[in-house]
Amino acid sequence: MNSRSDKFVNPISLAVISIFVALLFGCVPVSQPEPPQPASVQAIAEGDIENGRKLFMGYAHFENEGPPCMGCHNLGEYGLLGGGALGPDLTNVSSERSDIELASVLSNNRWTKSPVMEPIYNQHPLTEREQADLIAFMKSSAGEPQEDKELLVLGISILATIGAAIAIGFVYRNRLRRIRAAMVKEAEKELL
Ligand code: HEC
Repeated sequence: MNSRSDKFVNPISLAVISIFVALLFGCVPVSQPEPPQPASVQAIAEGDIENGRKLFMGYAHFENEGPPCMGCHNLGEYGLLGGGALGPDLTNVSSERSDIELASVLSNNRWTKSPVMEPIYNQHPLTEREQADLIAFMKSSAGEPQEDKELLVLGISILATIGAAIAIGFVYRNRLRRIRAAMVKEAEKELL
């Protein structure tokens, strides 16, 4: 037993184990993104509404490739059919939440967090600049009526279904007649 434990701690294996542990925990370059920082008051004051709009709608890409907000949120009258319905409507969010709270949601770094957004934007953090531009954009729609586009979407869906039924009916309008004609011909053959 003694000789076995002596062997185990021989300097070479110790060195190998140390290197292994060091590689595991310390020296391996980990490609984790920087922890997101909430936008500063100064950055928010300089937020660019137009760039915020592009980021929100997905017309411009986020630096860390996060998904556009429009996928889950509606804001004002933007988007023909509005945004996604998973998240709350953000048209008037800036009258309910302070700039700091908004920056906190966007950075997942303070008290106000969204359990749905946190895992996504922790993987793809929004830069301070992007948060500031998005906050400026969210503030720009304050006081506008919230547009409920769900009825519009429902109406369009119903019309599209009816349209598709008519189109299919038109395309196949001769189909039954052809089958019937074939059956009649078949029956005549048997009779004659
Ligand atoms: C995957 C869907 C999803 C995406 C993408 C998303 N959000 Fe959210 N967001 C939510 C949900 C859901 C909530 C409500 C809190 C919750 O349930 O997590 C929320 C909450 C918020 C809130 C707080 C609203 C309130 O009244 O408290 C803000 C502000 C916000 N999101 C802004 C954004 C912005 C800006 C983006 C784009 C960078 C974005 N969200 C992208 C789903 C999303």
